[in-house]
Amino acid sequence: MSARLAGKRVLLTGGVANIGLAILEAVIAEGAIVSMIDIDAAGGAEVEKRFQGKVRFIRADLSQEADITSAVKQAAEWMDGFDTLCLNAGVQISGRAESFATADWDKTFAVNVRANFIFVREALPHLRRAGKSSVVLMSSLAGKRGATGLLAYSSSKAAVIGMATTLAIELAGEGVRVNAVCPGWIDTPFNAPVIAFMGGREKQEEAIPRVIPLGRQGTPDEVAPLFVFLASDESSYITAQAINVDGGIYS
Ligand SMILES: NC(=O)c1ccc[n+]([C@@H]2O[C@H](COP(=O)([O-])OP(=O)(O)OC[C@H]3O[C@@H](n4cnc5c(N)ncnc54)[C@H](O)[C@@H]3O)[C@@H](O)[C@H]2O)c1
Repeated sequence: MSARLAGKRVLLTGGVANIGLAILEAVIAEGAIVSMIDIDAAGGAEVEKRFQGKVRFIRADLSQEADITSAVKQAAEWMDGFDTLCLNAGVQISGRAESFATADWDKTFAVNVRANFIFVREALPHLRRAGKSSVVLMSSLAGKRGATGLLAYSSSKAAVIGMATTLAIELAGEGVRVNAVCPGWIDTPFNAPVIAFMGGREKQEEAIPRVIPLGRQGTPDEVAPLFVFLASDESSYITAQAINVDGGIYS
């Protein structure tokens, strides 16, 4: 059987560690090559070295439009265009509405929402040229249901779902599918701000059996296969969806 992503050229954001690295490993294992974009220069260089020839690291700060346009150009040059966007990078800043700083709101939306819009806009000529292409946007269960202390984050991830469904409808006639992935509680250091907000790791662990029907948090390796599926032609009739990977929380 041939690899599920043989010949695919993937532009991935936030692939240095955790969920993004699991996505990178999974798409490479299925035969893709990857231009990986992240702010972490040292981590990115290490990933490029580990996957020599299959990954090109491009350093960019996704809050900067010029960094994104340059990254798309470099990715297209290295891969001779591309057909898949996996836009995974994100930030989480926690805090209640009354004390939340406007600058933190702006940073959250710049990285979690605006960057994805700029990526898609700049990538469109390449996605159209590819004929059959897929955009997978990282949202969150927090974008579907509220979470105390995550006002900006939840709002930004809800915006990502709106972006995915709207783009999917706009681009359906052009061979471009667009979907969002909504993980629940995945055990990575990313959740440190909201865990602190909940009163610490112990309090979070107490809550897990009540909140998650499967009784445990997920792992990055349990999120990555959905990206592979949505990137692959196996999902050719799936677009405009926001699919949960959450151990049954949203039921
Ligand atoms: N961990 C969870 O429980 C969970 C749940 C739902 C959704 N998510 C989403 O999954 C994604 C990955 O989360 P993770 O847990 O692997 O966290 P992570 O912090 O390891 O991953 C985020 C990545 O984005 C990069 N990044 C952050 N700001 C950037 C910027 N300005 N420019 C370029 N790169 C930047 C980081 O360097 C990092 O590699 C995020 O979008 C997050 O919202 C995570």
